[in-house]
Amino acid sequence: MQAMQQKGDIAVIGLAVMGQNLILNMNDHGFHVVAYNRTTSKVDEFLNGNAKGTNIIGAYSIEDMVSKLKVPRKIMLMVKAGDVVDQFIDALVPHLDKGDIIIDGGNSNFTDSERRTHALKAKGIYFIGTGVSGGEEGARFGPSMMPGGMPEAWNAVKPIFQAIAAKTPTGEACCEWVGNGGAGHFVKMVHNGIEYGDMQLICEAYQFMKDLLGLDNGQLSEIFERWNKTELDSYLIEITANILKFKDAEGYVIDRILDTAGQKGTGKWTGINALDLGIPLTLIAESVFARCISAQKDIRVEAEAIYGKKSYEKLSVSDELLHDLQQSLLFAKIISYAQGYMLMQEASKHYHWDLNYGDIALMWREGCIIRSVFLDKIKTAFDNNAQLQNLLFDDYFKEIISKALPSVRRIVAKGIEAGVAMPALTSSLSFFDGFTTGRLPANLLQAQRDYFGAHTYERLDKARGEFFHTDWIGSNSNVSSTGYSI
Ligand code: 2AM
Repeated sequence: MQAMQQKGDIAVIGLAVMGQNLILNMNDHGFHVVAYNRTTSKVDEFLNGNAKGTNIIGAYSIEDMVSKLKVPRKIMLMVKAGDVVDQFIDALVPHLDKGDIIIDGGNSNFTDSERRTHALKAKGIYFIGTGVSGGEEGARFGPSMMPGGMPEAWNAVKPIFQAIAAKTPTGEACCEWVGNGGAGHFVKMVHNGIEYGDMQLICEAYQFMKDLLGLDNGQLSEIFERWNKTELDSYLIEITANILKFKDAEGYVIDRILDTAGQKGTGKWTGINALDLGIPLTLIAESVFARCISAQKDIRVEAEAIYGKKSYEKLSVSDELLHDLQQSLLFAKIISYAQGYMLMQEASKHYHWDLNYGDIALMWREGCIIRSVFLDKIKTAFDNNAQLQNLLFDDYFKEIISKALPSVRRIVAKGIEAGVAMPALTSSLSFFDGFTTGRLPANLLQAQRDYFGAHTYERLDKARGEFFHTDWIGSNSNVSSTGYSI
């Protein structure tokens, strides 16, 4: 009998850097991986290059790949998000049996993962849509992984995913089952939105210190390094310190980079979803818009010429002021995560996902871009009370927020007075002030709606759900438009 090659535990389709690195990571952990790519020359390049000397098995067609896999087959797509994923699913299905598993590890929109889960379920094929965060380095040595889809498929995939995922300092894998359908890609999307917020906040603190305190790059780098030893300890603060002190032959690189931010869309999706679900995700939305305004470089330069270049009156640098700024960053970060969790809580209800909020914090603890010590506190908050209504109601966060509040007010006031745009920081304070106000001016708003559109209103002194209309202009009309009131 001919000696049989050992069959693969999993196949990965897509040999760009992320795919290659995930395969190498799986191989490091003792799994036999079948590697396939549309352009099959890349399979050979990989086998003769980065994969040389490993147990990785090459495949040159879908049939070939499928034949080299153990049953139930596990096939992970690491290809361009969008139509390409659907094309591969369509090409795979005729070669698969009931109970086989297709995993999409790309940056797919959660609505696509939701749709694919249901479409494949009808064919008896299991689908998992998983967020994979941490970039190329993460994929190679331990990404944060956020899998969702068909829960029946999780047990088969779990040993591989949890082996290759990043680990917390206490050894837990940053990978847990997120929930049904599109839940995994949804949580990855919110992760990216939060990443937008964290980055924007750091940029605002940078500008405040650069323009109002007149600090140079070396000093700024040292401050971020110092902050990295506080509650702000995180990957993004760490790389900011490194970026600010980085010099090449021409000097500081940071000073030569065009102030125009790009985006790939996940922050925008998060904002759109928040609007769809009616959640005030203000800080992330402002962070997306901050990128939009940054992208309008030419018109900003023109506007600056029309209104005059700002000549910032310098504030004197003091430990108190720097402490205020550090506290402001912390405050705004808590608000941003609280808003992100509000969105996930609403989405969990809306899409029937039953998300585990402590596990989500655990998955973000290491391996991904927003990894930070701070996430331990969120995990603890939800471990203490899985039904926690809002992160801001947790005792630990309540104490930090209360302590930081005077600092935030001082920094926001100084920034506004001086004319430094701080959309994310100021929005965190506005949100907090609205969120903690028992009676907002929406009574007037409802009156306006009732005045011009007979939209009706509820009353403080009557039961909720009872609607009233006032004849504001004496028209004696009893017509109200409750039919489309919201
Ligand atoms: P390629 O090497 O054959 O281009 C990232 O771009 C990954 O997605 C690569 O593995 C790439 O395969 C794959 N990919 C991109 N567009 C594709 C398409 N239209 N069909 C199949 N694979 C595609």
